Amino acid sequence: MEKPAYHRIVLKLSGEAFQSPQVGFGIDAGVLLSIATQLKGIKALGLEIAIVVGAGNIFRAASTIGRAIDRSTADYMGMLATVINGLALQDALEKIGVHTRVQTAIEMKELAEPYIKRKAVRHLEKGRIVIFTSGTGNPYFTTDTAAALRAIEINADVILKATKVDGVYSDDPIKNSKAKKFGRISYLEFLKKNLKVIDRTAVTLCMENKLPIIIFNLFKQDNVKNVVLGKKIGTIIA
Ligand code: GTP
Repeated sequence: MEKPAYHRIVLKLSGEAFQSPQVGFGIDAGVLLSIATQLKGIKALGLEIAIVVGAGNIFRAASTIGRAIDRSTADYMGMLATVINGLALQDALEKIGVHTRVQTAIEMKELAEPYIKRKAVRHLEKGRIVIFTSGTGNPYFTTDTAAALRAIEINADVILKATKVDGVYSDDPIKNSKAKKFGRISYLEFLKKNLKVIDRTAVTLCMENKLPIIIFNLFKQDNVKNVVLGKKIGTIIA
């Protein structure tokens, strides 16, 4: 039996993970099912999984429309959009028999449980996947930072940030073909080089709490499973 390298993980899924690449926005049922199936697969390895969802498939505070709206209002709109993604993911997971709980940092009792750390940990111990929505509940913080905060609070072993690139590069690999990928990089080096892919506040929080972050490509076959099994994939910031 394959053994996971971690006991408890926080997986950060960007909103784009939910959209069809052809359409470029919204939630795609096929994509959702594929993510849910991958999660069911890694759950079967016996680890505890918490997920922080983003919202870029629905609303981006940095987009043209977002910029036309007051920053904190735009951020709250983004937080609401994460709840939509969280509920969609819950539905997809439960349809294939995976028990889940959705928690939200902004109270909306009719839709989801409020975020309560001790309850979240209890759900994880009972084998449920916990989906954290509404980011940190505060504007000016990204869902990357929410992932770092939640991971620290629930004593996760690692943050796995699933993205559309293979890891941390010296420059944007889509714009610069000479950009070099790091296998491993220290928090300080990441911050000093002003690298992108995950935001600085999240990296700083992780540095102060000695929590490793792995950045990897969600869209490569078996990547989530391989990362969880401790295979050298993507970039580790530690
Ligand atoms: P344990 O009793 O520890 O096993 O956890 P539990 O989640 O099964 O118990 P609880 O009675 O808290 O929750 C039962 C169901 O109601 C679960 O699906 C929860 O997600 C849901 N639930 C609990 N609190 C809230 C809430 O404030 N709002 C909403 N919408 N659902 C809630």
